[in-house]
Amino acid sequence: MNAANQQHACVYGLSWGDEGKGKVVDLLCPAFDVVVRYNGGANAGHTVCVSTETFALHLLPTGALHANVTAVIGPGVVVDPQTLLSEIDELAERGIDVTGRLRISERAHVVLAYHKLEDQLSERAAAARERIGTTARGIGPCYADKMRRSTAVRFTDLLHEDDLAERVRRIITDRQATLTAMCGEEVEIDADAVLADLMTARSRLAPFICDTTELLHTAMDAGQSVLFEGANGMLLDVDHGTYPFVTSSSTGPHGIGPGAGVPPSRVTCLIGTAKAYATRVGSGPFVSELNDETGDLIRKRGKEYGTTTGRPRRCGWFDAVSCRYTARLSDVTDIALMHLDTLSGLDQIGICVAYRVNNHTFTTVPADARLLERAQPVIEFAPGWREDLGSVTRFEDLPAAARAYVERIEALVGTRVSIIGVGPERSQILIRGRVASLVGAPGNTTTQQAS
Ligand code: IMP
Repeated sequence: MNAANQQHACVYGLSWGDEGKGKVVDLLCPAFDVVVRYNGGANAGHTVCVSTETFALHLLPTGALHANVTAVIGPGVVVDPQTLLSEIDELAERGIDVTGRLRISERAHVVLAYHKLEDQLSERAAAARERIGTTARGIGPCYADKMRRSTAVRFTDLLHEDDLAERVRRIITDRQATLTAMCGEEVEIDADAVLADLMTARSRLAPFICDTTELLHTAMDAGQSVLFEGANGMLLDVDHGTYPFVTSSSTGPHGIGPGAGVPPSRVTCLIGTAKAYATRVGSGPFVSELNDETGDLIRKRGKEYGTTTGRPRRCGWFDAVSCRYTARLSDVTDIALMHLDTLSGLDQIGICVAYRVNNHTFTTVPADARLLERAQPVIEFAPGWREDLGSVTRFEDLPAAARAYVERIEALVGTRVSIIGVGPERSQILIRGRVASLVGAPGNTTTQQAS
């Protein structure tokens, strides 16, 4: 792409993750030269369906599926080398080779076996109501080490630190003592196994490690277009989400600065992704949750089970209060509203337009999770539609009630819905307005996949 057309975009989640970001990134990939993950780690699960094949990526940017895209894992990502290597191997088995176009930041932090162990044990040790319900991928403990600094391991250390093994052994001795005290029973960490994993990571991943910050700036200066792929969702953001029931990174476009080394102001197309209803995995407040047969029906029809952990997702009505909040925080330019087809067949569809706690009405998200736990949703109902949406290709051809539902969401959130998901396939997506100029015809993308 030449400099005149150069546009950088970010696709990120407006709610608690699992919004369908993978599919949106995949749709946009052909228009971009570089795709960058800038936050989170293997807690994410980005799913893309191509014909009869499904790809579930946890660490590799979705751009890895596209032969012409450079896939970058930025400084803000915490990388479990074992998971990454399995993903690279799995794609290779399926005919997709990332050699020469995958780049891992030398500044990114390494998730090790003891981070995952600590994640599990600290959840087990916590009182039931304080459990976060993490993905147990070691994300929080690795970010904690990053902030602590002296106990962190970065990719650059794999290449350059002479006494890394000695330092890792010291960290493990300390960590064993802390975990033993926390659990009240002996906890053992196999230092030799951790070091063996580090050595495998070094030998296999070394060719991919580089200064991705420099790479991105050089690419942008040369007129290339960059797509930033947010992981998790803004209601899981460590600063702005439903704290403490959040993940440990900056999940919105504001995370691009620290997580990729690129000023977020360079990114002008901000595509916030949400589902046409709401879901959440793990613990924490969820005001519009449906603990009834409608919630079960949405879970079943939307196949709402976690990509990373397989846990059933909690389901509820679209929450316009939290969506407006994250849309505002991120200055979203376009909404991608996914899974509209899942709602076909319901007589009426609810939208949460406010929260009530005692006699107080909230139209934005309060900071206190305890207060949010007690909040009651104020639900506005819209008429449903019966038609299957899977073969609709234009917004104008949606049933009138579906169009009205989308327009009501636009009015409540204050942003145009530019992308609409009407099925799991790559081609089942409607595009409106200026985003259409970014993508070619939907479904007209090239992958390296052997099909
Ligand atoms: P962690 O990121 O594994 O520490 O988990 C913290 C919280 O964020 C838990 O409630 C997880 O279920 C949730 N979470 C983290 N990543 C995702 C995601 O990509 N989708 C949905 N939930 C997530």
